[in-house]
Amino acid sequence: MAGSRTLTIIKPDAFGAGKAGLILALLEQHGFTIKAARVLHLTSAQAGAFYAVHKARPFFGELVEFMTSGPCMPLVLERADAVATLRTVIGATDPAEAAEGTVRKLYAESKGRNAIHASDSDENAAVEAAFFFPECDIVSR
Ligand code: RTP
Ligand code: MG
Repeated sequence: MAGSRTLTIIKPDAFGAGKAGLILALLEQHGFTIKAARVLHLTSAQAGAFYAVHKARPFFGELVEFMTSGPCMPLVLERADAVATLRTVIGATDPAEAAEGTVRKLYAESKGRNAIHASDSDENAAVEAAFFFPECDIVSR
């Protein structure tokens, strides 16, 4: 039976450090199936649009600068309870607070440079998947 979907991004720090393969292996070990994947170097306009919800926050400029600092890897992932499960698997925003074995505990440097993004709701997962992938590029059978 098909599960639900979420959107993740292996961020420029982890992608640039050559950790994409290790992170994908960890995600697959947690039961996620890859339904879409690409590699791209975001423009400032794209990064700003993706994180528009944080536009008024003091860290917004730093966030856009970081997300445009190198290529990143967005993926659509599927499994049961995908959004909540992936949030658990990536760990807390600040790696200093992330649980052992989480992606951020293993691969993040700091709260700003924190290796991976994950959608925070089913609604945002759908919006964020559509941001990177036309429906025809997401495996559905
Ligand atoms: P994400 O959206 O990337 O999955 O991260 P999140 O839900 O855990 O955290 P969120 O509050 O949505 O923040 C988005 C990203 O902004 C950067 N950030 N920097 N320097 C800071 O205080 C700070 N706070 C947030 C991080 O890259 C965070 O993932
Ligand atoms: Mg967030």
